[in-house]
Amino acid sequence: MIPEPDYRGKVRDIYVLGDKLLLVSSDRFSAFDVVFNEPVPEKGILLNQISAHWFSLLPRGQHHFLTADYRDFPAPFNQEHFAGRSALVLRTERIPFECVVRGFLLGSGFREYRAQGTLAQQKLPPGLKKGERLAEPAFTPAIKNDSGHDENIAFSELQQRLPQWAEELRTRSIALYQKAFAVLEKKGIYLLDTKFEFGLREGRLLLIDEILTPDSSRFADADEYEAALRRGGDIPTLDKQIVRDYLEKIGWDKAPPPPALPQEITEKMRAAYCRIRDVVLSITPQEFQV
Ligand SMILES: Nc1ncnc2c1ncn2[C@@H]1O[C@H](COP(=O)(O)OP(=O)(O)O)[C@@H](O)[C@H]1O
Ligand SMILES: [Mg+2]
Repeated sequence: MIPEPDYRGKVRDIYVLGDKLLLVSSDRFSAFDVVFNEPVPEKGILLNQISAHWFSLLPRGQHHFLTADYRDFPAPFNQEHFAGRSALVLRTERIPFECVVRGFLLGSGFREYRAQGTLAQQKLPPGLKKGERLAEPAFTPAIKNDSGHDENIAFSELQQRLPQWAEELRTRSIALYQKAFAVLEKKGIYLLDTKFEFGLREGRLLLIDEILTPDSSRFADADEYEAALRRGGDIPTLDKQIVRDYLEKIGWDKAPPPPALPQEITEKMRAAYCRIRDVVLSITPQEFQV
């Protein structure tokens, strides 16, 4: 018997097990906060493997992750059904902000810059091009809206709303982005931007959710990215952007119901996720520590 989850997120099924959670990554695909009808085969397993590997490189005590080995899950979850795509984690009181770090000027960050010359309401030098690398990674928090789209805010607003934690959220998010960026760059991959979530447990901030996956980050092949920047053409990335670009191209209004996704597009995204999985799983603790 497979129990019914206590909650269903857009992508994850969540079981509450006392002071722990079992997060089960499904193959559901969501973009612009809408869940699509076509699953992406194995996506849940790929994401779970990627995230679990990053957590295993970080010191325990900083994050929620316990194990992704289903044999260590409490009954009745220690069965094959939960293998590969599930993680047992510490339950926290979630902080309802997304801690976004951007190393490059892309997406909503570029749109804000183009409109008003700022990023998270901080002035940037004039004349920056789409996709350009920023002199310093920028922390650009967003309010996590359960209904509708996330809303970008200034760091000063985060400080007003969370005076006790804002500084730590920024410092830890930027530090982890920089560390992950450095190790991936050596392997020919750019981590363009990423989103972290944190939760409170016993008075401390723990890193929660998934981390540094192609659902929560933008990645690119470094050489292809540089070449595209020089050409001034479209920037190829190895993540959900593949599908977002397709959706923009067909002019979908981003309101449900979602359009059908051609298999060619989901396959392309799957191949990108596999490439990122292979690179991330090749990172050793020694490589990560330096
Ligand atoms: N350790 C944790 N404690 C509390 N909540 C968590 C923890 N880890 C992840 N979550 C939450 O579980 C949910 C994961 O499901 P997901 O499908 O990603 O949801 P969403 O639709 O909100 O993105 C997210 O809302 C995330 O904030
Ligand atoms: Mg999520």
